[in-house]
Amino acid sequence: MIKARGLTKRYGTVKAVDALSFDVRPGAVTGFLGPNGSGKTTTMRLMLGLDRPDGGTVTIGGRRYRDLAWPLREVGALLDARAFHPGRSARAHLAALAAANSIPSRRVDEVLRQVGLDTARDRRAGKFSLGMGQRLGLAAALLGDPGILLLDEPVNGLDPEGVRWIRDLMKSLAAEGRTVFVSSHLISEMAQTAEHVIVIGGGRLLADTTVGELAARSASLEDAFLELTSGSAEFRAAHRGPA
Ligand SMILES: Nc1ncnc2c1ncn2[C@@H]1O[C@H](COP(=O)(O)OP(=O)(O)O)[C@@H](O)[C@H]1O
Ligand SMILES: [Mg+2]
Repeated sequence: MIKARGLTKRYGTVKAVDALSFDVRPGAVTGFLGPNGSGKTTTMRLMLGLDRPDGGTVTIGGRRYRDLAWPLREVGALLDARAFHPGRSARAHLAALAAANSIPSRRVDEVLRQVGLDTARDRRAGKFSLGMGQRLGLAAALLGDPGILLLDEPVNGLDPEGVRWIRDLMKSLAAEGRTVFVSSHLISEMAQTAEHVIVIGGGRLLADTTVGELAARSASLEDAFLELTSGSAEFRAAHRGPA
């Protein structure tokens, strides 16, 4: 279980994350939905201890990320799919991660197979397409067989086959009892995968509900999302509407 309580992060005068509180439960895909600039990536960086909050807390199984003994074995994350050494092969990249985190080396070939990169494992990761880079990032996230997965806009840049593959993977990981927290700015994408959605706008919580309940609020799921987020400063700025 992930618990955010009053989580706040400022960049200068911008409140990127504004007093956010929510829980993310195991055994389901939870969508983290919001327009561009609404604070999704910042929230995920706070969850992973990559940034320090100005207020509030976020815990994973009751502990802060930095207090986890073997973080990669508890939380797998895909934030920046290009976070690998371009000159290293996919296999060497994963082998280094495994060694640094006391993960058995047999996991390297297992996850390469799981993400469909087994035939490309000896190629330089720097030459990978965007889709292959996403798959390698996912392989790294899965390496420690973690119970919790944090995926920041994982379908971005994937072809239709890759999109379908990642949707099925997220659902099967949740069906195994894992916590899957996935961000998107597209309600249509979340409708395909998530049971539960946490909607934010301007860094604030707008809804914490099921996809079904959200859809029932308006003529369509799309309408419900637009009505929710049109109140946010980011949405107004992006659409140059009246303030
Ligand atoms: N490192 C940073 N420095 C300054 N502003 C930032 C930084 N990271 C994010 N922001 C700002 O914080 C807000 C939220 O950004 P972000 O978390 O990336 O949103 P999202 O992932 O939902 O698109 C935006 O206004 C963005 O410009
Ligand atoms: Mg983002």
